[in-house]
Amino acid sequence: MTPLVELRKVSKFFGPVISLKDIDMKVYPGEVHCLLGDNGAGKSTLIKILSGVHKPSEGQVLFEGQPVVFSSPREALNQGIATVFQDLAMLPLMSITRNFFLGREPRVGPLRLYDGNLAARIAREELLKIGISIRDPDQPVGTLSGGERQSVAIARAVYFGAKVLILDEPTSALGVKEAAVVLRYVVQAKARGLGVIFITHNVHHAWAVGDTFTVLNRGRSYGTFKKEETEREKLLQMMSGGEELEVLAVELELIAKRDPAGAAQLERRIAEELQEPN
Ligand SMILES: Nc1ncnc2c1ncn2[C@@H]1O[C@H](COP(=O)(O)OP(=O)(O)OP(=O)(O)O)[C@@H](O)[C@H]1O
Ligand SMILES: [Mg+2]
Repeated sequence: MTPLVELRKVSKFFGPVISLKDIDMKVYPGEVHCLLGDNGAGKSTLIKILSGVHKPSEGQVLFEGQPVVFSSPREALNQGIATVFQDLAMLPLMSITRNFFLGREPRVGPLRLYDGNLAARIAREELLKIGISIRDPDQPVGTLSGGERQSVAIARAVYFGAKVLILDEPTSALGVKEAAVVLRYVVQAKARGLGVIFITHNVHHAWAVGDTFTVLNRGRSYGTFKKEETEREKLLQMMSGGEELEVLAVELELIAKRDPAGAAQLERRIAEELQEPN
């Protein structure tokens, strides 16, 4: 099967800063591909290359098997690569309907007039399809919760025929219940055959919905792993670069020699912390 999008040896430099180096990545239809990594790992830079914000300094981007160079986010969107940015996803003072269409409103008649009723009906129906029932499509988006806003952005991308849906940290500002709702939409987009790139710091969220995982660390890739080939704890360790945890292990060993009970307690606490959702 041809990947929807593929990166071949992609690097990105900002002056002396190496944001990405020799990244290979493939995303297939009907797949949730999680992009993991600590702060500054290069996750946002990578998806900005896919969404037409940046051009790669080296390497190649392929869309449905063909090399592409996007000169703007609009160009990537027209090809079917929709990106939902955490904060810029919505205009808070505008209505749900207006946000749903954002420049692609349905127009009717020879004068191509905006059809507000039709727009409101489509927005309401499309949101219902992914399980969001809105009281009033004219309601400002700013009155929705963070999770609902993310959901409107996802519904919009699906309605306008996105093939690739990129979500940059969609759950990071959300509580547990709201995150679960957004994760459900991620799974629904996948069920419709989209390739979803899901960026997160949260291994628990990634593990809940991901099929494949690419881990970045300081601009380099540790590789791509299928869920059945890896473990949550391994991903966690790669994300943190492993070093912190190794240092911790050495310290624990030293403590264990002097104070076995204390060491065991500390170990349990760390294990619990690593398990904690969020
Ligand atoms: N426009 C830019 N100019 C210079 N350096 C940049 C630019 N964009 C990103 N960088 C650098 O590239 C590196 C990767 O940044 P990026 O935003 O891709 O990380 P990230 O993985 O998304 O981090 P976070 O989890 O904090 O969002 C960082 O060192 C950052 O300072
Ligand atoms: Mg980022």
